[in-house]
Amino acid sequence: MSFARPKTVIEENDTVILYLTVQSLHAIDVLPYIKNKKDELIENVFQTSYGALKVKELIGVKYGSKVQLSKGWAYVLQPTPELWTQTLPHRTQIIYTPDISMILFQLEVKPGSVVVESGTGSGSLSHSFLRAVKPLGHLHTFDFHEQRCDIAREEFKSHGLADFVTVYHRDVCERGFTEELNGKVDAVFLDLPAPHLAIPHALKALKHSGGRFCSFSPCIEQVQRSCEALEQNGFVEIQTMEILQVEEYVKTKVINVLDLEFLKTKKPEDVDAKDLKTTKEQKKYVTTQVPYTMPGHTGYLTFATIPPLFAR
Ligand SMILES: C[S@@+](CC[C@H](N)C(=O)[O-])C[C@H]1O[C@@H](n2cnc3c(N)ncnc32)[C@H](O)[C@@H]1O
Repeated sequence: MSFARPKTVIEENDTVILYLTVQSLHAIDVLPYIKNKKDELIENVFQTSYGALKVKELIGVKYGSKVQLSKGWAYVLQPTPELWTQTLPHRTQIIYTPDISMILFQLEVKPGSVVVESGTGSGSLSHSFLRAVKPLGHLHTFDFHEQRCDIAREEFKSHGLADFVTVYHRDVCERGFTEELNGKVDAVFLDLPAPHLAIPHALKALKHSGGRFCSFSPCIEQVQRSCEALEQNGFVEIQTMEILQVEEYVKTKVINVLDLEFLKTKKPEDVDAKDLKTTKEQKKYVTTQVPYTMPGHTGYLTFATIPPLFAR
């Protein structure tokens, strides 16, 4: 239940994030006992690269605390959608935080918004939508893979989010987003192999007062087909972008100080860069450096607006 609201103390059945290092985080369900392969109830001991943790010892511990492992220590954090995206069990490809932040911003998702999403997949993006629309809004999430729907429904329930989300087992390209949602939705998000087939259904779901649309596609051919379908269905402000995250490394550089006395003897127009001289004095600067390599392409985000009905 630890996703639903801020909490101080860990309780049984919470999901917690065990933070070992910035690259090593694990989501753990706080269950004192679990079943082994022989269906016997055994003590829940979580193994990490810094040794074992008896999960029942987390009950009553404050979120943010440092906890002892058998060969080191870790921090226990309350889960956020960002930490969940880093630690969730992958059932599909997922959408990551840099794309998610742009999706929420561009779709203007806020408390009270009604959002349609397909496919649900592993529920990575769903958790961010849910934090944004709570407590008055609702997420309607669709997937044609029945088992993924069942697991997502269970996950939302165990995270205390069931009141704010409905999971539908449905092929949205063939059957759309259900009659009841027609004209009721503020924003539609698609992460599908053939999003263009669902765009006419998105149009039906969006409010008559207008709304926003986004589709995530790894391939440019899908983007082309989506843009054509958006135009044919009356969408405007069609824009495709790619979010590339650049991490700047902070480092100290030592630089030789320029010989300014030498420059005084020359007219500025006579100074050639190769004539510049340095003194023996050195100065240290804290500066940043861009990485030599960068995470590559994840996907294209295509956004569009449907204007109010009277303006279409
Ligand atoms: C890449 S995953 C979505 C991942 C999700 N955005 C996340 O962040 O976890 C795509 C999902 O779309 C579902 N899907 C594909 N075509 C569909 C369709 N026509 N109707 C409903 N779901 C569909 C797949 O079953 C899959 O679970």
